Amino acid sequence: MSERTLVLVKPDGVARGLVGEVIARIERKGLKLAALELRTADRATAEQHYAEHDGKSFYADLVDFITGGPLVALVVEGVRAVPAFRQLAGGTDPIEKATPGTIRGDFGTEVQFNLVHGSDSVESAEREIKIWFPNL
Ligand code: CMP
Repeated sequence: MSERTLVLVKPDGVARGLVGEVIARIERKGLKLAALELRTADRATAEQHYAEHDGKSFYADLVDFITGGPLVALVVEGVRAVPAFRQLAGGTDPIEKATPGTIRGDFGTEVQFNLVHGSDSVESAEREIKIWFPNL
């Protein structure tokens, strides 16, 4: 069944010129782009997006990082889009978890700078899409 997921190419991915690479992988998987915007996130947006991590040791650095430069926010649509993009992204830690062939496994080294975000469930996706694309 078709569903939507929220994808971010984080500021490290944009700075490294990986936007095209990420989009190409999404499209080659058979998923469709439903929205796409380059923007620098304000703190309120970042704090809402990462609310579940509030209180964790890495939370403040994460909010600083995600608001520290332009990112690309996308809504991606298709059959099982949520797990499909998580598969493309690879595990959160680019070395310990992500395998070669995934975005993080191929291009990342550090858990904070793991290039992309993908919603972890359909419920998270709908919550996150409202934060980034309230008019969608
Ligand atoms: P993301 O999928 O966007 O969801 C939460 C983010 O927090 C995660 O990717 C990483 O960028 C970051 N993160 C998770 N664990 C750690 C950690 N141990 N240290 C620093 N950043 C982390």
